[in-house]
Amino acid sequence: MCGIVGYIGSQPAAPFLIEGLSRLEYRGYDSAGIAVLTPQKNGQPAKTTAVRAVGRVRLLEEALPQRMSGTVGIGHTRWATHGPAAERNAHPHRSEDGRISVVHNGIIDNAASLRAQLAAAGVELSSDTDTEALAHLIARSPAETLEEAVLSTLEKVTGTYALAVMDERHPDRIVVARSGSPLILGIGEKQMFIASDAAALVRHTDQVVHLDDGELATVTAGSFRTFDRHANTTDRVPVELAVAAEDLELSGHEHYMSKEMREQPDAAEMVLRGRLDERFATSRLDGLGLDARELRSFRRVKILGCGSAYYVGQMGAQLIEDLARLPADAEAASEFRYRQPIIEPDTLYVVVSQSGETADTAFAVSEIRRKGGRVIGLINVVGSTIAREVDGGIYLHAGPEISVASTKALTNMGLAFGLLALHLGRLHDLSYADGMRILKGLERIPGQIREIFASEPHIEQLALQLSTAQSVFYIGRVRGFPVAREGAQKLKEISYIHAEAYQTSELKHGPLALITERMPTVAIIPDDDLTSRNIAAAEQVLARKGPLVAITHPGVDLAPLGVESIVVPKSEPELDPILLTIPTQLLAYHAAVALGHDIDKPRNLAKSVTVE
Ligand code: F6R
Repeated sequence: MCGIVGYIGSQPAAPFLIEGLSRLEYRGYDSAGIAVLTPQKNGQPAKTTAVRAVGRVRLLEEALPQRMSGTVGIGHTRWATHGPAAERNAHPHRSEDGRISVVHNGIIDNAASLRAQLAAAGVELSSDTDTEALAHLIARSPAETLEEAVLSTLEKVTGTYALAVMDERHPDRIVVARSGSPLILGIGEKQMFIASDAAALVRHTDQVVHLDDGELATVTAGSFRTFDRHANTTDRVPVELAVAAEDLELSGHEHYMSKEMREQPDAAEMVLRGRLDERFATSRLDGLGLDARELRSFRRVKILGCGSAYYVGQMGAQLIEDLARLPADAEAASEFRYRQPIIEPDTLYVVVSQSGETADTAFAVSEIRRKGGRVIGLINVVGSTIAREVDGGIYLHAGPEISVASTKALTNMGLAFGLLALHLGRLHDLSYADGMRILKGLERIPGQIREIFASEPHIEQLALQLSTAQSVFYIGRVRGFPVAREGAQKLKEISYIHAEAYQTSELKHGPLALITERMPTVAIIPDDDLTSRNIAAAEQVLARKGPLVAITHPGVDLAPLGVESIVVPKSEPELDPILLTIPTQLLAYHAAVALGHDIDKPRNLAKSVTVE
């Protein structure tokens, strides 16, 4: 949820640090800070200049001194976990004498006891954070080298971290460590970059080293050396960065969310590319790491994800039940990890995550694996923590998603579930004809998404009406219910309008009491065997003077109701939810724009939720 950057080379570090932090701001954005080391003349130890500020990186930049010429530096953008967003809690954290500076992502689980031990030893703690303890422990280590001091400190620590450490006594290096939180080294010409996310590096180098969990590195201006917790060298060869600089630009769009919504047709083509097999009316999923015999042996499918990924997981569960006739359900990974789930050997576990870093989902994966379950991942970020831990999976190929509100990654999750369900279905009962029907349906989806954007002006008008509401109902039934849940989630996230999703069938069992002329309802009314029931429910809302917007298909005759409708191209019934979700993104986006909110960085949220 936080972001780390570091630079060591021959150029002033501060410009890279600030630019890198603004690229990472989407990951967390309540405070930021940098520390830069300036070597001193006459054999004096180097001097650290540190600046921290509450709020956006822009405010940090304004607070920087005129001259900040040091060529070694680290920086951080924070999303508060331990203690409020205050300057004292912003990173870098420093030892009492200021010699050691640390930036940290993740959570130190035993921070309270470490802080208590430090306080008992007379250390004056100046923040509420877990990270500060690390700075003091490193500074108090009797070790000769910075590497040894970091290693001996990490022995005392439990929890997750990506760390970058600077030492005034060793101004020629930054020492970094990774355990459960990503960290990347960027290799430049006589300069090295450090970042928790490729977004900060992509303009400077395409040669990177992704550290593994349990790995550390010493980074100097001209080289790097990676090693494990026993100080044994691990030979790491740089690889080419998979992200291109232009993928991370706004490219003329007003917001990343708007850009990413519009990228959906191309992204959808990418997730399908090379994966549709007409000969056998199935999908080719080489990365699953499970052969046909193993896939056939599963009796059940359990899907886990958080937030919107969980709602798409619900769509996925229905797709799998429909096409493979295997019992399937989705559960919030954040709940799963806290109960005593029974891990069954004949259950296929599927985790879904855009970032591949969501702590709750990652924890569920390690728990399932510890207990012998097989887990595959539907993941967007290549090489992310979850992607490395699962037995196999399907990369979403949606490209980088910067806006906190997820759009194109979710659509590609839906499509990846379509591919998986088709694959499983064809290994079970699904006929060749039905396999082809789904395959052709998947193929049409990119073009159909394009068609939806043609009605954007109309959707924008409807969004303006919704934007004045205090609260909005989203209703859907069976396949439409996850669509309603995701629609309500999007509206809440970026417009801050309260929204609640209900099963259409449940409306009359309670929530109908809330319907008045001030409570709009967005109703998902697909053209399927439940259309007449959905229309009946819409009539019940209208009879109570509730304003209603329908998201529906051509051929569903809502004219007699006189309601506003958004008409979405019809797909195969099993795949309809993927397309029906798109207008809900546009409704939320335009409502939030009308309300003047920060679209890409909604309040209190962060792009990848790497804490509990
Ligand atoms: C919604 C949203 C969140 C994420 C959730 C899981 O727009 O962005 O609800 O879907 O935090 O994130 P990932 O997919 O990265 O695991």
